[in-house]
Amino acid sequence: MSKFRRLLSHPGQVVRSRSIRALFPVLKVHNSVQRLALWNLGKAPRVALERLFPGVDDVDLTLIGPFKRTVETLLDLTEVAAVAAIMKSVKARRIVEVGTCDGNTTVNIAANSPDDAVITTIELPHDWDGKYKMHVSAEDVNVTDRDKIGGRFLRSPYRNKIKQIFADSAALDWSKLGGPFDAIFIDGCHSYSYVKSDTDNALANLAPHGLIVWHDYGYMADLTKAVDEYAQSLNVSVIQGTRLAVARRRAAVN
Ligand SMILES: C[S@@+](CC[C@H](N)C(=O)[O-])C[C@H]1O[C@@H](n2cnc3c(N)ncnc32)[C@H](O)[C@@H]1O
Repeated sequence: MSKFRRLLSHPGQVVRSRSIRALFPVLKVHNSVQRLALWNLGKAPRVALERLFPGVDDVDLTLIGPFKRTVETLLDLTEVAAVAAIMKSVKARRIVEVGTCDGNTTVNIAANSPDDAVITTIELPHDWDGKYKMHVSAEDVNVTDRDKIGGRFLRSPYRNKIKQIFADSAALDWSKLGGPFDAIFIDGCHSYSYVKSDTDNALANLAPHGLIVWHDYGYMADLTKAVDEYAQSLNVSVIQGTRLAVARRRAAVN
């Protein structure tokens, strides 16, 4: 796609251009503002969490090691809290996460779900050979050190609620995961092809009332583009102040 066409489909890219970013320090734009300014891609409306999930403001949370990580592209504290609060407010029991990483989100979902909840978390195998099932461009290669996978929950009291699946999410037979699921959190490989594949698999294994949450909406162009393409069939909104997009199926029109 030409640079100009890319800008038309994602006007927010202007803020990302090197020349504009070079102005941030000159204008003394605070680091945290610079960070949020880059979360502006995509067409989905930004909506306050409590408008999307009425009653969520009454939810109390248990946060496990909330400051025990470097954020960067990973979920920050607000985002982890929002995911856990959503799962708790919709009383999700059967949950899937794509992309386990160190297990920070997994353990925080587990700590805020009913005792009989099962969180199935998918991650590339320990002996992964470096070959993806689908095309992934170099900038979308994002693989956690194998010895860190699930480290946040392996010895936690929530371990028994967490089921680990080691597979490439696009090579996996999702029908064997034990769905239908109440909620599916997509945060694995962020390339366009993987986001589409993970979302199609999620939709095929989602309960009728179920919801999908994606991380990195508005921040990663490929992921944002893929999610925007579901707007015809899904009600997609972004939780204000986060990179979390959430969706439920649109009600069928007779
Ligand atoms: C952004 S991190 C996930 C962060 C995690 N969900 C959290 O909230 O802390 C992405 C993870 O997906 C894994 N991953 C990348 N490609 C994958 C694939 N094709 N199938 C399964 N996992 C994948 C990476 O190894 C990495 O651990």
